[in-house]
Amino acid sequence: MNIGELNTTARALVAKNRGILAADESSSTIKKRFDTIKLESTEENRRAYREMLFTAPGAQRYISGVILYDETLRQKTKDGVAFPQYLAKAGIIPGIKVDLGAKPLPGFPGETITEGLDGLRERFAEYHRLGARFAKWRAVINIDSGVPSRYAIDANAEALARYAALAQEAGIVPIVEPEVLMDGAHLLERCEEVTNVVLGSVFNHLSAARVVLEGIILKPNMVIPGKKSPDQATPERIAEATVRTLKRQVPAAVPGIAFLSGGQSPTDATLHLNLMHAAGPLPWGLTFSYGRALQEDALNAWGGKPGGFAGGQQALAKRAKLNGLAAAGEYKAAMESAAA
Ligand code: 13P
Repeated sequence: MNIGELNTTARALVAKNRGILAADESSSTIKKRFDTIKLESTEENRRAYREMLFTAPGAQRYISGVILYDETLRQKTKDGVAFPQYLAKAGIIPGIKVDLGAKPLPGFPGETITEGLDGLRERFAEYHRLGARFAKWRAVINIDSGVPSRYAIDANAEALARYAALAQEAGIVPIVEPEVLMDGAHLLERCEEVTNVVLGSVFNHLSAARVVLEGIILKPNMVIPGKKSPDQATPERIAEATVRTLKRQVPAAVPGIAFLSGGQSPTDATLHLNLMHAAGPLPWGLTFSYGRALQEDALNAWGGKPGGFAGGQQALAKRAKLNGLAAAGEYKAAMESAAA
């Protein structure tokens, strides 16, 4: 393991005005996204969609890295260039989702454990050969009555730590993603309490597993009320609670934090990120690693049609730019109505 190299990659992922495009939807998730535009999820449609995103001219300036799915890592542009090589040449770091999904945790109704540790050392070696320089593993924490349990939190944190150690051994920067879901009717305060406990457990396990913090990126949820909460909290409260929680739980040795969007609207996700930079300097880079919030407008504008290719690219370029600005506190809501 070369710690300097891991740290250089991690810092590049959170460089000023740049963030990560999460395009690592598994085959079942991308099918759900394509269903919304009534498009069949064939291998060629998935390839064409990802090519539209990755080659969007105005977006590349604001995208530091792209998280790919196993299938996409092996696919090529229509001109025959493998996606990881295309991205690297465009100054974008290729990443890979390596977990195999969140499965029901036996004995703990409503809770999950993320699978994928078996054989991961060998998979990392291959992913590194194919060009991946960072990876993602997502743990899912639900909020409900009596949930999450301490056991589920710790089991997921331990899996994240074992994954992160294996990634670093392979020269790959682990994105450590413990996602507290925004499903449900809980208040912001409950999300804050759970996020504190989850991040506390994650950093305890990372330390126990001897993961080098200078060579990771944390991908957390924002501290936000449940979608069905009676009190929907202002953007300012969300930004304030999120920064407070991160400052309490994330050591300054961590080079960067890149949020998931988790079901927030594209404009909310941009606004919240921007507000977090308003209160002054932070100890780590703080940016986006959005899936839905970056892709939603682009997917709709593309619509699965060759004639929608340029429109999809423009939609992605606009969201990437606004998020790139928000990652440095330079975004203004009035920019939403201006062209990309
Ligand atoms: P969302 O931004 O759509 O939550 O996706 C990010 C991600 O990578 C989830 O694992």
